[in-house]
Amino acid sequence: MVKKKSCVFISGAGTNLRALIRSSREYNYPININLVISDNKNALGLKIAKKYNIDYKIFDLKKNNQLEIALRVLKKKKISLICLAGYMKILSKKFIKRFNKRIINIHPSLLPKYKGLDTFKKVLINKEKLTGCSVHFVSEKLDSGKIILQKKIYVEDNDDINSLKTKVQSKEYTAYSEAIVKLYSNISS
Ligand code: GRF
Repeated sequence: MVKKKSCVFISGAGTNLRALIRSSREYNYPININLVISDNKNALGLKIAKKYNIDYKIFDLKKNNQLEIALRVLKKKKISLICLAGYMKILSKKFIKRFNKRIINIHPSLLPKYKGLDTFKKVLINKEKLTGCSVHFVSEKLDSGKIILQKKIYVEDNDDINSLKTKVQSKEYTAYSEAIVKLYSNISS
């Protein structure tokens, strides 16, 4: 099986990146991670890229020349899927159009609920009993593209922002990996 080439965009810790790298190293997994792009040169996730010998680049895609350079790099590396994993910048319409339906994201809520930031706080304020994470296509509207897969967790009375974050993030790792399998099984069927 020929694995598709992918790039993961990060800004921070990169724990989803690590989970995706581990999945991608499984024999039958549909993608390889060939490149990591970060907007933040101090992102801890870059250490993960280094550890696994994955090429990484720092780009500020808001700067037009860097956007063009990034697009060239992605093309040269034949990247056919972009996975946003804790990438904190909003991608331009131009970029999203160029990668039409080939950019996916993971968000720590059951979309369409709680788009944007501070999801755990909002879940607690609204006394939700259930929350979770969503893997979705990236469209021009924030956190609004078609959902590929969601996973749920129960919110307990004693949960706080930190405990929710831990529970949701541990679901994210399997959710992201499974969503990519689902994506490619849909494409090939
Ligand atoms: C994740 O919770 C993801 O849902 C959100 O940003 C966080 C990134 O965490 N978009 P990490 O950098 O993968 O550890």
